Amino acid sequence: MAANGSAPPVGQENINTDIITLTRFLTEEQNKVPEATGDFTLLCHSLQFAFKSIAYYIRRASLINLTGLAGSSNTTGDDQKKLDVIGNDIFISAMKGSGKCRILVSEEEEDVILFNENPNARYAVVCDPIDGSSNLDAGVSVGTIFGIFKLPDEVLGPNKTVSEKDLLRPGTEMVASGFTMYGASAQLVITMRDGDVNGFTMENSLGEFILTHPNMKLPHERAIYSVNEGNSSYWEDWTNAYFDSLKHPEEGKKPYSARYIGSMVADAYRTLLYGGIFAYPSDSKSVKGKLRILYECAPMAMLFENAGGLAVNSQMERLLEVVPEHIHDKSGVYLGSKGEVQKVIDMYNKHKK
Ligand code: AHG
Ligand code: MN
Ligand code: MN
Repeated sequence: MAANGSAPPVGQENINTDIITLTRFLTEEQNKVPEATGDFTLLCHSLQFAFKSIAYYIRRASLINLTGLAGSSNTTGDDQKKLDVIGNDIFISAMKGSGKCRILVSEEEEDVILFNENPNARYAVVCDPIDGSSNLDAGVSVGTIFGIFKLPDEVLGPNKTVSEKDLLRPGTEMVASGFTMYGASAQLVITMRDGDVNGFTMENSLGEFILTHPNMKLPHERAIYSVNEGNSSYWEDWTNAYFDSLKHPEEGKKPYSARYIGSMVADAYRTLLYGGIFAYPSDSKSVKGKLRILYECAPMAMLFENAGGLAVNSQMERLLEVVPEHIHDKSGVYLGSKGEVQKVIDMYNKHKK
């Protein structure tokens, strides 16, 4: 931009020769930790390749016959799209090939996947390879959600066994989490435990994720709510009372705007940027909620907390502290700006206490 705010004339654009790619960012983060082995960085490089590959196939889906159903359903009974299957296969190959992943949980696989060929690999990865896949054929944004745990030393080595139990841990124990949203461009958002939240945008010509949203912070409040209101007849009374209070505020205040895409990744990304609240409450139809604790709720909860927001379940417990009973366990979820989630908690307390 020129000093007066207008763009420079064509041919005189300022060229940034010092951009921060995800690869550079990961190297710089690794250099801050003297005892780092580089294993985490290598694991992230493989994740990055998985995201680029999935982004590529989603961009080309309508051209190469990748829309529609695969003709099967996954472990939680959802119909699998062709891209659910491809995304899952890409993810498994990338994690196997990284040499740093010992065990993987995927939404699309009933059981954990063990990489016994990597007995010393220190990381466990949980993922939803394609989140929001019902939106795929309409070209609406979908995404990949992931979380990374570090396994304890006792389970490392060729004679040791790793199992599902090693993953039934609270989200507070993740070392990192994030998502990639495949939208107008691919956006990758990542955070480390107790770290900042950083957003990267895929530059297709360079084939690199570029740091475009450093240190993302949610606004404290914003009058936007995001929920599948079609479920309201199944909601508890306090849930209906809460959403009614947003639509019918006290005199002189404006009602909230509704925004619901139906891909958690896309609704969460907007909420991270603009603020507001995203919810998928548990209800009488889905008593434990719809979204999965390990690879949907917990990774998002870590991102939202590290960006200054809050994330709670339908009992108003901190989502990051919830321990799943099994790898595909589900939960109600409310995440968003601190001030907005606090209003949910206040309404719950008013009705329940
Ligand atoms: P997935 O495609 O991985 O099964 O996840 C879909 C999830 C989530 O992305 C979204 O928030 C929610 O389901 C939408 O559900 P409804 O269609 O019931 O609103
Ligand atoms: Mn999902
Ligand atoms: Mn999915």
